[in-house]
Amino acid sequence: MPDKIQVSAPILHNQRLQKDYYQLDLSAASIAKLAKPGQFVHVQLPELQHRILRRPFSIFNVDLDSGCLSIIYKIVGEGTEHLSKLAPGDVLDLLGPLGNGYTLFPKNRKGIIVAGGYGSAATYLLAKNAPAPPVVLIGGRSKDDILLQDDFKRLGCELKIATNDGSAGHHGMVTELLTQAIAKTSNPAVAACGPNAMLKAVSEIVEKNGIDAELSLDHAMCCGVGACFACVVKRKADTPNGWAYSRTCIDGPVFKASEIWWD
Ligand SMILES: Cc1cc2nc3c(=O)[nH]c(=O)nc-3n(C[C@H](O)[C@H](O)[C@H](O)COP(=O)(O)OP(=O)(O)OC[C@H]3O[C@@H](n4cnc5c(N)ncnc54)[C@H](O)[C@@H]3O)c2cc1C
Ligand code: FES
Repeated sequence: MPDKIQVSAPILHNQRLQKDYYQLDLSAASIAKLAKPGQFVHVQLPELQHRILRRPFSIFNVDLDSGCLSIIYKIVGEGTEHLSKLAPGDVLDLLGPLGNGYTLFPKNRKGIIVAGGYGSAATYLLAKNAPAPPVVLIGGRSKDDILLQDDFKRLGCELKIATNDGSAGHHGMVTELLTQAIAKTSNPAVAACGPNAMLKAVSEIVEKNGIDAELSLDHAMCCGVGACFACVVKRKADTPNGWAYSRTCIDGPVFKASEIWWD
């Protein structure tokens, strides 16, 4: 059995969730079967011949009975705008599951998830597959950027929200909630996905607390399979300058916080 597959995946549903965020459900049983939390699919967009590159999206959820694989996307440019116009029955070419996902939370540690933006989608399967419901901290600019609250609640997760404008939950940064959550938890295991500034702050907090975290980095990609080196990040290494490049698409997107070389 190969570890990644290219399939033609018919769209089952494509619907707006809130603001510019959409959920896309695809029929892709063979990829759904292999998917692990934190992995992604590389999506070829039809009818954008002048934009031949695929677009990476985290696998939000899978339903093994129906073979449905879901992603959540935000409209940020031409590709995602085009995606939002597609209808059930349209077919997308998918490559996946790609990348190195999260380690499942161990039984003897309390999971803490920190998510910003589409990070809620990238970490949902981790919560779903956890031995006990984790604490989930979601941050965003305003309440309209907080995704999947009900889905995490349905899993039994303790949910805390932070918004920059104070329109929901804690008025401030989600990383402030992380500091509080770590202080209240013995032996926490931390996993995060969100903007790089948030991930850097998560790294600093866990380091101060003498623990590590797993971070899913967002880096623009081209091939998605390790061939082009468009997605390199600096990773600590035993080299004269203290770092070496790693490819986000195949060495990540999930890395240990202690391995990342932040400039
Ligand atoms: C491993 C991985 C998983 C991802 N998962 C998701 C997901 O679950 N949901 C989701 O909405 N998005 C996700 N992204 C980001 C997504 O791939 C981009 O938003 C998308 O490719 C943009 O395509 P576009 O043609 O609409 O935008 P473009 O026209 O290519 O770009 C429009 C604007 O978006 C910016 N942009 C492009 N790519 C990225 C990126 N990777 N990160 C931040 N800004 C970007 C560009 O700089 C530009 O300003 C993920 C990215 C990676 C690397
Ligand atoms: S995107 Fe080509 S090597 Fe990672």
